[in-house]
Amino acid sequence: MPLSRREFITGACAGAAAACIPGERRADAAEPKTATSAGSFSFVHLTDMHVTPKRKGDVGYHKCVESVRALACKPAFALMGGDLAFDGTYNTKADFAEFIRLYKEGSDGLGIPYYNCMGNHDALGFSSRRKVPVDDPDIGKKMIMDRLGWEKSYYSFDHGGWHFVVLDSIYPIQGKDGPTYEPRIGPEQREWLAYDLGAAAGSPTVAVTHIAAFCNRGQINGDPNYKAMDGSMVLWDTKDLRTVLERHKVKALLQGHSHRIEEYRLSGVWYLTSAAVSGAWWAGSWIGSPPGYTVFHCRGDELTWEHVPYPWEPHLEPEDAIERKRIAEQQAFDEEQRRLLERDRAGRRGA
Ligand SMILES: [Fe+2]
Repeated sequence: MPLSRREFITGACAGAAAACIPGERRADAAEPKTATSAGSFSFVHLTDMHVTPKRKGDVGYHKCVESVRALACKPAFALMGGDLAFDGTYNTKADFAEFIRLYKEGSDGLGIPYYNCMGNHDALGFSSRRKVPVDDPDIGKKMIMDRLGWEKSYYSFDHGGWHFVVLDSIYPIQGKDGPTYEPRIGPEQREWLAYDLGAAAGSPTVAVTHIAAFCNRGQINGDPNYKAMDGSMVLWDTKDLRTVLERHKVKALLQGHSHRIEEYRLSGVWYLTSAAVSGAWWAGSWIGSPPGYTVFHCRGDELTWEHVPYPWEPHLEPEDAIERKRIAEQQAFDEEQRRLLERDRAGRRGA
């Protein structure tokens, strides 16, 4: 019996043959067919794993890897969406080295190729809270790239007649107290992207970035004071990037950073933010998005996807009072939603 998307999301998928059933989201609607003879395969988008022994995050990451390995549709590869290791910005070099080692150990366990994308927490010392000197030779992206054998922070590759682009949204700048970043693609990378997409014309294309082009926290929370382009939640050059993606009819931009599932479609491009593998930094769900990842299916030049949670209970540390409170509030909200749903369906107005 075919599963609905909802049944898939609530956990019926792991290891079940039904994991091959495409979801309801399609990126081919109203788009011109390309001349490609693209094949059929699946891949996964794993993002914001922040691998760390804290809260047993390294054990949790292995659980996620097990879940991917148990998928009935074996993914051909994984796109790793950034914030891979927790955390280079305000930890010692020795600790960061261990987090990277744990990330690599877990990711190697996938048994499939994986493609790394740079996250803001993957850059050593890109914060005023840094624990390395500002002139440390490894500061920035170098340390994680060296240790993962990662040659260029943005690049592209082809698979099964499809084209994939990995973008670097961590634009290095010199801040007033040392090296840091702005959330940008930047003109040089954008020019590279335009020519890369030009050379791949005819192949259906998916791109991945860590920091999102779209992340609508203000609208989601109904907060009129939240400035959409404020802070570091979205790319500051999102319009320039969007223009290139639209011109080349890129099917989807896969996003991370916010730890919250979001899906938008604008001018022919899907903007998809996957759940974080770490959920709320290994302390349960983050604003309703449980720890999870996304499975994508490419069939011909059609793209469909499923958001997949995996089983992981948080292992909180004694000092995690804020996390305990947040989990309790989310549970109370979920319980109230269930109560109200029952009430609405029973038709007892005013109960
Ligand atoms: Fe991030």
